[in-house]
Amino acid sequence: MNTYIGIDLGTSSVKLLLVKADGSILNCVTKEYPIYYPQSGWSEQNPEDWLIATVHGLDSLLDGYNRTDVKGISVGGQMHGLVLLDNNDNVIRPAILWNDGRTQKQTDYLNQVVGKKKLSKLTANIAFAGFTAPKILWVKENEPENFSKIAKIMLPKDYLTYKLTGAHVTDYSDASGMLLLDVKNKRWSKEMCEICSVNEKWLPKLCESYERIGRIREEYDLPNGIVTAGAGDNAAAAVGTGTIKNGDCNISLGTSGTVFISQDNFFVDQNNSLHSFAHSNGKYHLMGCILSAASCNKWWLENILQTDDYNVEQEGLDGYLGQNTVFFLPYLMGERSPHNDVNAKGAFIGMRPDTTRQQMSLSVMEGVAFALRDCIEIAKSGNLKIKSTKICGGGAKSRVWKTIIANVFGVPVSVLNVEEGPAYGAAILAMVGANEYLSIDDAVNNIVSIKETILPTADLTEKYEQKYLKFKKLYPALKNVF
Ligand code: XUL
Repeated sequence: MNTYIGIDLGTSSVKLLLVKADGSILNCVTKEYPIYYPQSGWSEQNPEDWLIATVHGLDSLLDGYNRTDVKGISVGGQMHGLVLLDNNDNVIRPAILWNDGRTQKQTDYLNQVVGKKKLSKLTANIAFAGFTAPKILWVKENEPENFSKIAKIMLPKDYLTYKLTGAHVTDYSDASGMLLLDVKNKRWSKEMCEICSVNEKWLPKLCESYERIGRIREEYDLPNGIVTAGAGDNAAAAVGTGTIKNGDCNISLGTSGTVFISQDNFFVDQNNSLHSFAHSNGKYHLMGCILSAASCNKWWLENILQTDDYNVEQEGLDGYLGQNTVFFLPYLMGERSPHNDVNAKGAFIGMRPDTTRQQMSLSVMEGVAFALRDCIEIAKSGNLKIKSTKICGGGAKSRVWKTIIANVFGVPVSVLNVEEGPAYGAAILAMVGANEYLSIDDAVNNIVSIKETILPTADLTEKYEQKYLKFKKLYPALKNVF
């Protein structure tokens, strides 16, 4: 029996899936690690913690299973994070993560001095604080000693792959989020490297996500394990949810929230508000990313309401759909798409003495849906029509949240047979790399299917349309207060 391992290096934990060649899941293991906020708006993790969690995770995952059956492994993971290694392969400083907002000055320099037009021409994107290039500039300016030690630059999942195989590689989907890749032509941009004082030798070799990059090191005792390059978590999730045809859409409700639109051809929206990145199937995609999605719900329930019983908290909320007059702005970590504002903050608006806990809980989920709708609006203005969407991530377990999204977007929302988007996508990339399937299309057609679709209703869609029109006015009104 051939088996495959798909790994998702997330922000709060690493998830490992053991999958049979027919796509069925044999085992799933999650291991957590800490996230550090050394200053307000900063977020960091220790790459060594990722490795330890993954190695322990592999042992738990394979407990009771035959290690020689494992024919392929692939890692998907949190994008944009900056991992720096010195000449001896030691980690120089903690990784600076995708939702870290310390780089406003460097982001402004790139967008305003180098200029958005030039950035877009060189990389297909403009600078956002979470992208990798502004972080490199930040280290150069603020930690010159660390900067002088750099021998290798890598993204989070590539650090794991490096430790597992010894190969310093990345894939095009993840590399797209560094702002150093010429996305259209799939090569490092020499000019961007120069602008960011990056020696091209520090950068990993570029591969397609499903390309084989080597074998797993002997010490991990997976003698038949071929490793493929893997993908950024969103591009991996898109494969895991079968979002691979032109115009297909996937929403991820994880720590971040993303709207991912698969594109056969390279495309950049007029204002570069959406990310224009490579897909893990060899093509392209557009993406809007909000920095806080399921994390808003987690914050509200666990930190503020002091409960971890999400089901009890959400019970009966569907009775309020379309009637809630409370608004929530989900900008707990600032915002990426579309506002690109590290100073944006979360807010509840519209309470009265009779406002209930339920209304506030509902407003959190609605606020996240509206922020994702902001991303879709840009896609619409670029003439992209979304007819339906898949959904994945922790937040997608909530029926009421999926119903809100179906009606805020006005499209059917589908859940897949396997809900572990990025880890499942990584397993599929591993299968294709090991020739279990001919291509991503072949694998997806054989093993990914829709389990359930939630349809919008005319009445609720109209009510949410009215509420969204009001929501849209709140950020511009509060921008200066933030
Ligand atoms: C995408 C992004 C996030 C992270 C989360 O651009 O920053 O979705 O990949 O893991």
